[in-house]
Amino acid sequence: MKREFGRTLNDLKQTAMAKIEEMKAIVMASEDGGKGEANDLTLPGVNYELGSRHPVSIVRQEIVDIFRKFGYDVAEGPEIEDDWHVFEALNFPPNHPARDMQDTFFVSSGHPNPLLLRTHTSSIQVRTMEHQKPPIRVICPGRVFRNEAISARAHCIFHQVEGLYIDEKVTFADLKQAILLFAREMFGADAKIRMRPSYFPFTEPSSEVDVSCNICHGKGCNICKGTGWLEILGCGMVDPNVLEACGIDSKKYSGFAFGMGIERIAMLKWQVNDLRHYFENDLRFLHEFEAATEV
Ligand code: PHE
Repeated sequence: MKREFGRTLNDLKQTAMAKIEEMKAIVMASEDGGKGEANDLTLPGVNYELGSRHPVSIVRQEIVDIFRKFGYDVAEGPEIEDDWHVFEALNFPPNHPARDMQDTFFVSSGHPNPLLLRTHTSSIQVRTMEHQKPPIRVICPGRVFRNEAISARAHCIFHQVEGLYIDEKVTFADLKQAILLFAREMFGADAKIRMRPSYFPFTEPSSEVDVSCNICHGKGCNICKGTGWLEILGCGMVDPNVLEACGIDSKKYSGFAFGMGIERIAMLKWQVNDLRHYFENDLRFLHEFEAATEV
């Protein structure tokens, strides 16, 4: 076996050597004896540049992979939505001041259910609840739009991943554990979380979540502004009004929801200090992420 293999290899070597000699002879026989530029075998070859994935795509995939592992499905929905799916079904009454929390681009107005650009991907959660019976475990990644002045910390276009879990007897403890597991997968096994009370019309109680700073490990640095904590997401227990609006029996089922900005997580991961970099397509910035691109 070994002998046979050796013989084949040797044959191959001899064929290759003969071919090389043959080609060399052709080159040497040419007019300039192989010294011309066209035949300079020491010239570097053509460089094929590898593309890289956009940092927002890389982090979106990372977040999706983590929740897939926990058993969540992925759902998508339209970017041009109607008022019902973005606000009304989510317990924002008409003219409620909470609508001002998300400045909206309207596509049509004067209609009872105007078209608009979705301000959050919670609209996909509404669509999922309308079409699926619990148990529901879904994450909704996507692009969202808010009528905000563009600065280092805000943009009128950004990306979110929101999540929803509905079943019998889901409690706040389940929410806390899901977020803690996510934080550990995303920011490292020693990541800690803390929850601060907050307000969203569609969850009650609502909370904002901070993760311990992954740069200074809680000691305090300029990334976490000396606090040791970084804000990463909003969450809460789905308001029974929302369940009922989507046709789910709120006496039988309960659930939690959460939502995070992908750019924000990417900024923390790579310490990018200006949100605008993500949308300017400057190749010098994009090339930075070649190493993080899985081929
Ligand atoms: N939809 C909220 C936002 O865009 C985030 C959120 C989702 C908060 C789910 C709580 C629960 O700001």
